[in-house]
Order: sequence, then C-alpha cells, then structure tokens
Amino acid sequence: MTGTDVTGTARTALVTGANRGLGLAVATELAARGHRVLCAARDEPAAARAAARASGDTAALALDVTDPGAVRAAAAEHAVDILVNNAGVLLDQGSAPSVADLELVRRSLDVNLLGTWRVTQAFLPGMVDRGWGRVVNVSSGAASFAYGPAPGCPGYTASKVALNALTTMLAQEVKGTGVLVNAINPGLVRTRMQPLAEQTAEEAARHIADAATLPDDGPCGVFLRRDTVIEW
Ligand SMILES: NC(=O)c1ccc[n+]([C@@H]2O[C@H](COP(=O)([O-])OP(=O)(O)OC[C@H]3O[C@@H](n4cnc5c(N)ncnc54)[C@H](OP(=O)(O)O)[C@@H]3O)[C@@H](O)[C@H]2O)c1
Repeated sequence: MTGTDVTGTARTALVTGANRGLGLAVATELAARGHRVLCAARDEPAAARAAARASGDTAALALDVTDPGAVRAAAAEHAVDILVNNAGVLLDQGSAPSVADLELVRRSLDVNLLGTWRVTQAFLPGMVDRGWGRVVNVSSGAASFAYGPAPGCPGYTASKVALNALTTMLAQEVKGTGVLVNAINPGLVRTRMQPLAEQTAEEAARHIADAATLPDDGPCGVFLRRDTVIEW
C-alpha cells in the first residue's frame, strides 16, 4: 500500500486516536490525498471501524499510546513516514490549578505528553534513518503562553504546554535530517471534546494534513495555527 505527497513520493502515515473526532477526520483527509494511513485506536475493533470509515488505502492498528508494549510492537511492524500525534484527553475542564485533582493531571500528562513522546520515540529513528519524516503534535491554544495559558483545565493545559516544549526539543534534535517536527493548534473543533464548537473536524483536519505533508523547506519546531506560525 503506498500513497504520494506533493513530490509524488510514496508515504505511510500513522494517526493516533483515529477512531473519532479530529483523528478520524485527519486519517480520512490523508487517505483522500492518496497516502497509506494506519488508523490507530485503543482497541482492534475501533481501529478496524476507523480504517473502514476513512476508506482509501487504510489499515487498522490497535495502539493505546500509554501502553509501551503496544507502541513497541507497532514500531516493529510498521515503517512510518508521517506521524500525527492526535490522541488526547481533556479530563479536568472547570477546575482551577490551586485545587486541581492531581490524579487527573497525571492522566492528562500520561496521554497528551508521555503518550505522544513514547510514540514519537518509537517511530522517529526510522524517519531519521530514511532521511524523511513529518511529525505533527496536535496541541491546543490552551498551551500558549503568548496568549495566556488557559487556567480552567490545568492538567490539560500543562500537558499541552509541555507538548509544545517537547516539539521544540525534538525539532532541534532532528535538524538537518529531513525530518520536520511541529505542533499545531487546531482551534476549537466540534468533537466529543468540544461539542459546541463551530469549526468542523473536516475543516481542521485539512490544516493538520497540510502540516503533516510540509515540503522539505517547511518550518520545523514551530507552533502552527492553520498555515501561520504563531507564538506560544
Ligand atoms: N476539539 C477541540 O476543540 C480541540 C482543540 C484543541 C486541541 N484539540 C486536540 O485534538 C486532539 C483530538 O481531540 P478531539 O477533539 O478529536 O477529541 P475526542 O473526540 O475526544 O478524541 C480523542 C481521541 O483520542 C483518543 N485517545 C484518548 N486516550 C487515548 C490513548 N490512551 N491511546 C490512544 N488513543 C487515545 C480517543 O480514543 P477513545 O475513543 O478510545 O477514547 C479519541 O480517539 C486532542 O489531542 C485534543 O487535545 C482538540
């Protein structure tokens, strides 16, 4: 199974949390652009449903990003050129940092930061070896110091601030290897996480897919909102 990017080269993409919301829309968009897409979800049936819904050249992958064994097994089986770290949780909306439930903070960090970190550690070396790769970390406007980190969901915000920091460090590490690592703020998107948002997942997914298929002279280590680099 192969797909092509703007240069016509075959690419394989992996989207975490592809069973619903933004992840399913990104998987669908990348498949529609002709890429092979590994649709990852926490369990096999959900991944299989996602692969069927995304259609095109897709395959299912059972991948809980908090499970080191599952991540290792996935990396042993698949070479991935494009990694979209989309899986995320928003567990502590309506809380305040001074009274935050630290168990919810820990679980937020476990998925949003460490899950992304773990999956990236597993697939990045292959990208570097092959001299081409794109990593997109789906972050949040909540993570921006430039606009004031959102205080109403402290575990979520801290996890996404740290995700942006991770993005910057990884970008420094891979400089000159042909791999680009960036974070993106999708804005508010109508999914289970934000059911009242105006923007559809399909619209936001187009920008994430663009970030996942940047040309070789594209930015690395930046925070994107649509196609614009923003402060964080
Ligand atoms: N919606 C927004 O307005 C918005 C704004 C800014 C950023 N984001 C970010 O966009 C990303 C996608 O969010 P969404 O809006 O699409 O939310 P969503 O509908 O709640 O989807 C979250 C996805 O993450 C998956 N997930 C959670 N924990 C996981 C784990 N341990 N391993 C693998 N997958 C896991 C979920 O799988 P299950 O179905 O198994 O739970 C689900 O597929 C998140 O990183 C979120 O922080 C969203």
